[in-house]
Amino acid sequence: MPKLDGYEVCRRLKGNSETVFIPIVMVTSLSRLEQKIKGIEAGADDFLTKPFNSVELITRVRSLLKVKQLTDELENAETVLFSLALGVEAKDPYTEGHIFRVATLALKLGRRLGLSAEHQESLWKGGILHDIGKIGVPDAILNKAGRLTPEEEAQMQVHVIVGERICQPLRSIRYLLPVIRHHHEKFDGTGYPDGLRGEAIPITARIVGIVDMYDALITDRPYRSRLSRQEAFGILRAGAADRTLDPALVASLIAMVEQEEGLAPVPGAVAPETGAAR
Ligand SMILES: [Fe+2]
Repeated sequence: MPKLDGYEVCRRLKGNSETVFIPIVMVTSLSRLEQKIKGIEAGADDFLTKPFNSVELITRVRSLLKVKQLTDELENAETVLFSLALGVEAKDPYTEGHIFRVATLALKLGRRLGLSAEHQESLWKGGILHDIGKIGVPDAILNKAGRLTPEEEAQMQVHVIVGERICQPLRSIRYLLPVIRHHHEKFDGTGYPDGLRGEAIPITARIVGIVDMYDALITDRPYRSRLSRQEAFGILRAGAADRTLDPALVASLIAMVEQEEGLAPVPGAVAPETGAAR
């Protein structure tokens, strides 16, 4: 193969979320161990050495297709959960589009911070699924215009446990359960459900928690109308100052939003004349 070799083709297919589950059998004339290791590292599912027996090839392809079918069924199960999350969101007209905005912003922040591919996937899928447990919270509490009573607040808090339980049976998304369980923990240990403090709160849950809060602040809610970006930044900064929010993450989120919205000064640009400095 003149440009890409088989390993690179394999690596690219396995690195793309659209093609990652397509089984790949490497047919090679080399039987050396290091070539095989290279193939495994590239993500190959099976190997055959030339000259290969066609019956053996067919048998291996059949068994890999069976695995693929199971993977597809798992993917369908994930789809059901995502639909459920959208259903929960649809119960509340105020939160329309909220979960996709949270997922998108959390993923962008994770990329900016250089988090791993698995963490990034947790941020995207966890951003969508984090409030799925609200299916177990009465609508009267979800949509209440005034402050929640302590009993109602307790009922609301259960959503993180219910959400974890809903998603727990699906092994393919176990890695994102910490996002669901811990997205309401606070940096100073005053959050729920476990009162985790500081870095003990998984980074993915800290990111989704802050982004969730930010998006809620800049959109209309039953209990108040939307705030401006600067007002929302002020509340996030106050949270960083009193240590309920991770100060480093608050700073990164604000810097990212300011850059995206063109609010941050462009380095080297001449400041407009305001007359104030004279
Ligand atoms: Fe939540």
